[in-house]
Amino acid sequence: METPIILNYFTISVSCFCIILLYASTLNPVFALENCTFPAIFNFGDSNSDTGGLAAAALLTPTPPYGETFFHMPAGRFSDGRLIIDFMAKSVGLPYLSVYLDSLGTNFKHGANFATAASTIRLPEIIMPAGGGYSPFYLDVQYLQFVQFKIRSQITRQKGGIYANLMPKRDYFPKALYTFDIGQNDLGEGFRSNMTIEEVNASVPDIVNKFSTNVKAIYDLGGRSFWIHNTGPIGCLPYILANFLSAQRDRHGCAKPYNDVAQYFNYKLKEAIVQLRIDLPLAAITHVDVYSVKYSLFSEPNKHGLELPLVAWCGYGGKYNYSSSVGCAGTFTVNGSQIFVGSCERPSVRVNWDGAHYTEAANKFIFDQISTGAFSDPPVPLKMACHHA
Ligand SMILES: *[C@@H]1O[C@H](CO)[C@@H](O)[C@H](O)[C@H]1NC(C)=O
Ligand SMILES: *[C@@H]1O[C@H](CO)[C@@H](O)[C@H](O)[C@H]1NC(C)=O
Ligand SMILES: *[C@@H]1O[C@H](CO)[C@@H](O)[C@H](O)[C@H]1NC(C)=O
Ligand SMILES: *[C@@H]1O[C@H](CO)[C@@H](O)[C@H](O)[C@H]1NC(C)=O
Ligand SMILES: *[C@@H]1O[C@H](CO)[C@@H](O)[C@H](O)[C@H]1NC(C)=O
Repeated sequence: METPIILNYFTISVSCFCIILLYASTLNPVFALENCTFPAIFNFGDSNSDTGGLAAAALLTPTPPYGETFFHMPAGRFSDGRLIIDFMAKSVGLPYLSVYLDSLGTNFKHGANFATAASTIRLPEIIMPAGGGYSPFYLDVQYLQFVQFKIRSQITRQKGGIYANLMPKRDYFPKALYTFDIGQNDLGEGFRSNMTIEEVNASVPDIVNKFSTNVKAIYDLGGRSFWIHNTGPIGCLPYILANFLSAQRDRHGCAKPYNDVAQYFNYKLKEAIVQLRIDLPLAAITHVDVYSVKYSLFSEPNKHGLELPLVAWCGYGGKYNYSSSVGCAGTFTVNGSQIFVGSCERPSVRVNWDGAHYTEAANKFIFDQISTGAFSDPPVPLKMACHHA
């Protein structure tokens, strides 16, 4: 499974809208085929789309230089700036998503973000704040929080006054876009434990099953438009590369066996989505091949105006500028003096931020690619990825 950047056969002619519409309408009669009005977005995921969840829970709060590029201060995101979900929200005319767990200054009128950094699909073995632990808000919990949100937001709205304006209307739920980017940490957790590559690979079907269960549950609550990212090339991230120095590299320097597992996850995810379309006849489900877009940042960074994709821009140590003992925004002591790990210049040309997360520049590039529909199945652009009313 070595050919990640080959596009789906039907994505080649994005410019020829008629073909796309024909394809989409023939095989996916559930899609509206017009510009959608999404009144809200509800997002589920991990740090790839966490706009402040883990920080609000006070389990891990990014400190400077996180956020320096766009927000000019830490903004709960594990990046120097905006995430893909930020660009998505803006592009469909909505504000940045407020975080469900945030008790301060939130406005849920146009949706809520249930993602937290370090979230998995399955219940993780080790949970924060334990060292090396994952988020307690794994996907089942994010779903339960959504269930609460859906009920309690309506009760809260009925209080009137300012509350009426801070909560989504009832009819926003069926019209909303439900977005997902999760699974990377299920693989990462396996790799960081003592499981072999084969054992992690063998756990993929169960992980994907649990993902499907949650999509079905949201459908049962009335969700109709789903936008699902597959998982990225985890084997290209410095945190994997630095931890598995002897793993086989592909020709772009990524750790091949780790990407193979990610691709198997994506294969099973695609299969699961085909089944979901059968099981959930009223759902407009868009599968988005984020893997291919991210991989192109490693295979041809210069073409996209970026450089050193395998090297953390904010980190310390070794070939990958990454150390598991001290990360971005950390400090360590050498020869009696304290050294701060902070970035310095030119974030706009780098791909990797801190060893595990992408820079704003990379996120913007990924958004620009996926929002057109060129990497989607069916190949509808983001603004048309809704279920018809
Ligand atoms: C959708 O919106 C775009 C502008 O964002 C416009 O160019 C296009 O004509 C619209 N398409 C339809 C089918 O309304
Ligand atoms: C992996 O095995 C090593 C050696 O047996 C042990 O020290 C370490 O704690 C194990 N790690 C995990 C995450 O189980
Ligand atoms: C993962 O499992 C699938 C199905 O058994 C197999 O085809 C694939 O080669 C495995 N990949 C790895 C990296 O073990
Ligand atoms: C620490 O001190 C040793 C011995 O004086 C020196 O070789 C080394 O370069 C120093 N390390 C740093 C980071 O200054
Ligand atoms: C490694 O990270 C440090 C701290 O952010 C930064 O100053 C340095 O430029 C980085 N090195 C590379 C090669 O990117």
